[in-house]
Amino acid sequence: MVQGALKADALRGKTIVVTGGGTGLGKAMSHYFSELGANVIITSRKIEVLDQTAKEISAATGNPVLPIACDVRDVEQVEDLLRKSEEEFSRVDLLVNNAAGNFISPTERLSANAFSTVIDIVLKGTVNCTLTFGKNWIAKQQKASVLNIVTTYAFTGSGYVVPSAIAKAGVLALTRSLAVEWGKYGIRNNAIAPGPFPTKGAWDRLLPGELMEKFDFKNRVPLKRVGEHQELANLAAFLLSDFAGFINGEVVTIDGGEWLQGAGEFNNLEAIPTDMWDTIADTIRKNNKS
Ligand code: HXC
Ligand code: NAP
Repeated sequence: MVQGALKADALRGKTIVVTGGGTGLGKAMSHYFSELGANVIITSRKIEVLDQTAKEISAATGNPVLPIACDVRDVEQVEDLLRKSEEEFSRVDLLVNNAAGNFISPTERLSANAFSTVIDIVLKGTVNCTLTFGKNWIAKQQKASVLNIVTTYAFTGSGYVVPSAIAKAGVLALTRSLAVEWGKYGIRNNAIAPGPFPTKGAWDRLLPGELMEKFDFKNRVPLKRVGEHQELANLAAFLLSDFAGFINGEVVTIDGGEWLQGAGEFNNLEAIPTDMWDTIADTIRKNNKS
């Protein structure tokens, strides 16, 4: 099992808001931030899930975790999230835009509402949070940092998850744009592009039922495995911490080499058995002389 990478108390004194913090990768990151001493606010639509996660994390780490219900699509709810967070901890230092909606579907089967539902959660939700917290930091002349969880298909695109691909690409553009524009305020903007990390939310919607066996993610990854949540949490904690104070506008891929495997022209030659390579080499040498 992967261990926590940062030294104890690396995030002590920091207050971090994690959207989608009640489940999956948001929960794993929140747990680790709390273990490192941060005050953590977890937010999503389902308050019962948040309450349970907050109790669980706080009991394990001894640090405060505040659950606040908020639909990131609604800017008034996001403003309320900021207000309640400041009431409890007096200020927020770091924001992780992790909430997402996604499911596989041929694009032509999607209704207008299906398309905009995903875009609204991922792109508009990230904009709502970034802008609300960012305006507040700028007004207060407070240094801060935003971390956006995208995917590798934010830069490659992908069929069958087109609303998500469009929205994540938008979030990546937002990350790079604000890294420059808000650098002068001491606000860093970075992103993480994860490959496959098993979570119920993603697996239920991306490889439901027997699809999991047929399209097992780990077969697409050169390292022949999926990610461990702690590996992502380690990277997120580092990028948010003061140790990464000069990293701004970066997107860090954590996918075991998955997207490059799909991109390299000859990577599928892995299917050639080792003993065939002698024959292939002989044929090429012969061809060189003809
Ligand atoms: C076609 C679908 C559909 C499906 C929903 N819709 N599921 N259309 N195929 N499988 C349509 C509905 O019919 C409706 O359109 C519209 O989408 C909105 O659906 P609702 O159920 O009303 O929306 P809502 O309750 O807001 O739920 C949002 C959601 C849901 C995105 C549909 O899945 C959700 O709550 N997701 C949150 C968690 C999540 O998605 N986690 C996975 C993240 S993984 P009509 O026209 O009928 O009104 C990820 C990256 C993975 O992001 C990368 C892996 C490598
Ligand atoms: P997940 O557990 O389903 O996480 C998504 C979270 O977003 C949920 O907690 C959900 O909670 C919240 N959410 C959805 N709609 C919301 C809204 N309108 N307002 C507020 N919160 C909302 O899936 P996950 O796999 O951990 O995904 C986390 C992040 O990693 C996402 O950004 C995803 O795109 C990214 N990612 C995941 C993988 C992977 O392999 N798992 C790969 C690449 C990228 P509620 O339902 O309570 O609102």
